[in-house]
Amino acid sequence: MKKISIFVSGNGTNLQRIAEYFKNNPDVEIVNVICNNPKAYSIERAKKLGIPVRMVNRQEFNSPAFTQEMADLQLDLIVLAGFLLKVPASLIQAYPRKIVNIHPALLPNYGGKGFYGEHVHEAVVAAKEPFSGITVHYVDEIYDNGEIILQAYTKLDEKETPDSLAAKIHQLEQAYFPVAIEQVLAR
Ligand code: GAR
Repeated sequence: MKKISIFVSGNGTNLQRIAEYFKNNPDVEIVNVICNNPKAYSIERAKKLGIPVRMVNRQEFNSPAFTQEMADLQLDLIVLAGFLLKVPASLIQAYPRKIVNIHPALLPNYGGKGFYGEHVHEAVVAAKEPFSGITVHYVDEIYDNGEIILQAYTKLDEKETPDSLAAKIHQLEQAYFPVAIEQVLAR
């Protein structure tokens, strides 16, 4: 049995998709959802999916006690699915190459501090990039820096808007993120 924890801050469409993808797989269990945002719609989704939610604020998230709590779970993988806090070094050291993130652009471009969610798409459209996409990568101690596991591309149209690009990126995430997770679990 592979044990996963999913960290979220927002809407939770990736959380939902991952949970549905693995629902009928007896070898994969989503043991909990970690959420730092009391207003996140992810909380509703997790409840409907029957997954326990552990709320955490920034201070607690960075505490040694929280790292210990996570270490005690003996997880096979931590999945950051739209999670906006920086992961502390202690947690990364507790789970080396066992934390993955999805980023809504083609890293190393449009990554780093401030580049999350719609801000990424606004910047990509403003720069008239011909392509954008998604990056699934391991998490290391530098923001959006770790080894790349998977990238998928989409073309921008001449009349692309941040919203229309967001919809394309959303489709890529729905198609590829669970598959990337499955591949990492098999390594
Ligand atoms: C996703 O597009 C994800 O790639 C992005 O946040 C969104 C969360 O959507 N992540 C980042 O920007 C991380 N820097 P969701 O809550 O509906 O899954």
